[in-house]
Amino acid sequence: MNVLVLGSGGREHALAWKIAQSSKCDSLYIAPGNAGTMQCGVNVEIDLNDFRALKNFCLDNRIHLVVVGPEDPLVNGIVDYFKDDIELKYIPIIGPSKAGAQLEGSKDFSKNFMEKYQIPTALYKTFDQSAIQDGLDYIGQQEAPIVLKADGLAAGKGVLICQSVEEAQSEFKKMLDGKFGDASAKVVVEEFLTGIEFSIFILTDGISYKVLPSAKDYKRVGEGDTGLNTGGMGAVSPVPFVDDELLSKVQERIIDPTIEGLKSENIDYRGFLYIGLMNVDGNPYVIEYNVRMGDPETEVVIPRIKTDLLELFDGIARRNLEKVVLEEVSETATTVVLASGGYPESYEKGKKIDGLDVNKGCTIFHAGTKRNNGHIETSGGRVLTVTALGNNIEEALELSNNCADQISFEGKYYRKDIGLDLV
Ligand code: AMP
Ligand code: GLY
Repeated sequence: MNVLVLGSGGREHALAWKIAQSSKCDSLYIAPGNAGTMQCGVNVEIDLNDFRALKNFCLDNRIHLVVVGPEDPLVNGIVDYFKDDIELKYIPIIGPSKAGAQLEGSKDFSKNFMEKYQIPTALYKTFDQSAIQDGLDYIGQQEAPIVLKADGLAAGKGVLICQSVEEAQSEFKKMLDGKFGDASAKVVVEEFLTGIEFSIFILTDGISYKVLPSAKDYKRVGEGDTGLNTGGMGAVSPVPFVDDELLSKVQERIIDPTIEGLKSENIDYRGFLYIGLMNVDGNPYVIEYNVRMGDPETEVVIPRIKTDLLELFDGIARRNLEKVVLEEVSETATTVVLASGGYPESYEKGKKIDGLDVNKGCTIFHAGTKRNNGHIETSGGRVLTVTALGNNIEEALELSNNCADQISFEGKYYRKDIGLDLV
């Protein structure tokens, strides 16, 4: 099988790493990839939103399967483009249709969907420019903290947690005035939920689904969950408090009605679904849906899957996922993100990375790296993630941290406390 993975982060390196281990994989291409994905297959320089160029590549290279990593091409309709094209429609593509991708692409859509299918989530109302005063009045009736969400994709920055009604009203006006461009043309005003966050990932063929290992990521830049929000500074899997009881509540109250809802809406959804959840006193609430895997969660979830990933994807393509057995590794996985100094604010790129070959007992996934004149250098805020397996969080983390210590580049920063709050 010739496989094309779309994306360039740690998530895509982890997917490519796992696919490359499959006996079913003949050739693996990653577009555009990074310096790490080059160790698993061939990087190809194509813009992910240039569907025409992707089409030509797939036909020229006899691609049998396309795996979409990030949300952008999904929200832009890559799956529909493939399904509607006479030459591409026989190539299975892992990801939801444009309609399905609205679960991530529009917070208003996803909140309406949850309301319609009675899926537990924070109470909310959505407002646009034509209803500014209604929005201000509504906020005035709420108690702080108040959550404001830009409706559209805002590069992970579109959520504000306001500590007073006045702050929320002022930010609400700024958002409708274009603080996040078109993404905040509509604003969701939401109740603040108190609890512990965790994530559940499923793979679905639109009929049945597999629940992948649970994970929790650490979004704040500083130890002890302090400082600015980032794309994620580390992750652990499994999440110790996600026991069978909580998981069955998630299945009954959230996953099953989500899959049924998608079917009722005639939405073609075949791919990953990431459900960001809040555990509020033992009851799960949906914070957000993402129509892709998480990053860095993929870097702990994928190493805990024993089953051949191409078998699972084949089950999606044939719509008989139910028949594929998902086997998990029982050990705990941790991953720590090595970031560029200054991230998530401004940081420098182009720093030479040393120590990538001394990965005792760890797997190094590349995120923001590139090859330059025979060496590997930094090219993003999140540079590498270091994954280790152990009998428990402490054991795995010690390995991840030891390995992270041995890698060096100017300005390297990482959190040493990933997962320790769960111990
Ligand atoms: P999102 O971009 O939807 O993932 O939101 C970013 C972060 O904001 C989440 O990971 C939560 O930590 C927080 N958040 C979002 N919605 C709520 C909510 N209703 N209550 C409490 N925290 C929230
Ligand atoms: N780690 C959070 C995300 O992938 O959205």
